[in-house]
Amino acid sequence: MIIGVPKEIKDNEARVGVTPAGVKALTEAGHTVLVETHAGEQSGFPDAEYAGAGAEILDQAAAVWAKAETIVKVKEPIEKEYAYFREGLVLFTYLHLAPVKTLTDQLLQARVIGIAYETVRDRQNTLPLLTPMSEVAGRMSVQVGASCLEKERGGRGVLLGGVPGVAPANVTILGGGIVGTNAAKVALGFGAKVTLIDVNLHRLRELDDIFGGRLYTLASNSYNVAQATREADLVIGGVLIPGTTAPRIVTRAMVAQMKKGAVIVDVAIDQGGCVETARPTSHSDPSYVVDGVVHYCVTNMPGAVPHTSTLALTNATFPYLLRLANHGAREALRQDAGLAEGLNVWRGTLTHRGVAESQQRPWTPVAEVLG
Ligand SMILES: NC(=O)c1ccc[n+]([C@@H]2O[C@H](COP(=O)([O-])OP(=O)(O)OC[C@H]3O[C@@H](n4cnc5c(N)ncnc54)[C@H](O)[C@@H]3O)[C@@H](O)[C@H]2O)c1
Repeated sequence: MIIGVPKEIKDNEARVGVTPAGVKALTEAGHTVLVETHAGEQSGFPDAEYAGAGAEILDQAAAVWAKAETIVKVKEPIEKEYAYFREGLVLFTYLHLAPVKTLTDQLLQARVIGIAYETVRDRQNTLPLLTPMSEVAGRMSVQVGASCLEKERGGRGVLLGGVPGVAPANVTILGGGIVGTNAAKVALGFGAKVTLIDVNLHRLRELDDIFGGRLYTLASNSYNVAQATREADLVIGGVLIPGTTAPRIVTRAMVAQMKKGAVIVDVAIDQGGCVETARPTSHSDPSYVVDGVVHYCVTNMPGAVPHTSTLALTNATFPYLLRLANHGAREALRQDAGLAEGLNVWRGTLTHRGVAESQQRPWTPVAEVLG
C-alpha cells in the first residue's frame, strides 16, 4: 500500500502522523511511504531520518495526497486540504466530526473513507488513540492554567501551590477520565487543593482510592458545578460523552459568578467545550476574557509539545496503521470491531451513531456498509 504523511498545516500544529521508526516498519512490510518535506521537523524528525528509514520525500502536499492510497495525519483536515479529498481515499487521523458539519459534508461528498482516531475502541472499551493525547493535554492543562493565573496573562495572580502561611489555589476539574486524572496528578503535585467532579460514581470511588483522599470528589449536578466553579481559581474541563458534542455543564451564569481573574482551561473544546462561554482558540492566540474570567480553549494542546506528543500518539496509532496497510481498510475493519468503531464515513455514507445524532442526520451501521 502507498501511505502518505503530509505536513500538518493547522495553526502551530507540529506533530506528525508517522515517525521514522514507523516508516522503517512499514517499508520492511513491503509498503511505500511518501513523506512531505519538513513533515516531522518540528517534532524532532528531519527529512534525512525519514529517508534513511526508507521513505520517499516529496516537496508538495498535493503530490502526497494524490499518490497515496492511505493518508495518515494528526489533526482533522482544514479547508485548504478539502480539495485533496477523493473517492476511496482512506484518511486515518483525528476527525472530531460531531461539532463540524462542513467537514462531514465534504468527506461524504468526496466519498472518502474516514477513520477517526478519537472513536476507535479497544477490548477494554476505552479509546486507545485518544488516551495518549488526553494524558498530554491533562498534564499540560495545569501548566497552562498556572501560567494564565499569573497577573501578566490576565489572571488573579495566584500561585497554585501557595507558600507556607498562604493557602494554595483551588483547582476544580470537570470529568475524571484521562484528562481529569492526569490534571489531578499534576495539580496535586503543585500542591493545589483539588476538587474533581464526575457523573460516574464508580469512577469517583476509584479516584478516591487512587489519590488516597488527597482529592475531593463531587457528583456532577448543576448545584455542585456552580458551587465548585464559584470557589475555583482554576477550572479544567475534561468532560466527554464519546462521539458527541460535550455537554455544557458550566453555564454563562456560573462563569459570571466566578472570581475575577480566575482561569478556565476547557480541554474538551475539541468536542465543542463543556463551558458555555468557551470558543475554540489556537496556540498563537490561546486565551480571551469573558466576565473577568480568563478562558484558554486551544483545540490541539498537545501540539505545543510535539516531540512528546508525536511519540505518544504514534506508539498507539501505529499498530492499527500497519494492519490497515497489510490487509486494506475493508478487511482490517472487518477483523477488528474496535477499529470499525473508528469508521465515521465510508464512501458517501455516515457510519457513526454519535456523529449522526450530534448533527441530526441519518447513519448506517458499519457492518452494513462493509458487506
Ligand atoms: N484540547 C485538546 O487539545 C485535547 C487533547 C486531548 C483530549 N481532549 C478532549 O478532552 C476531553 C476529555 O477526554 P478524556 O480522554 O479525558 O475522556 P474520558 O472519556 O476519559 O473522560 C471523560 C469523563 O467525563 C465524564 N463525564 C461525562 N459526562 C459528565 C458530566 N455531565 N459531568 C461530569 N463528568 C462527566 C465521564 O464520566 C468521564 O469520566 C475529550 O473531549 C477529548 O477529546 C482535548
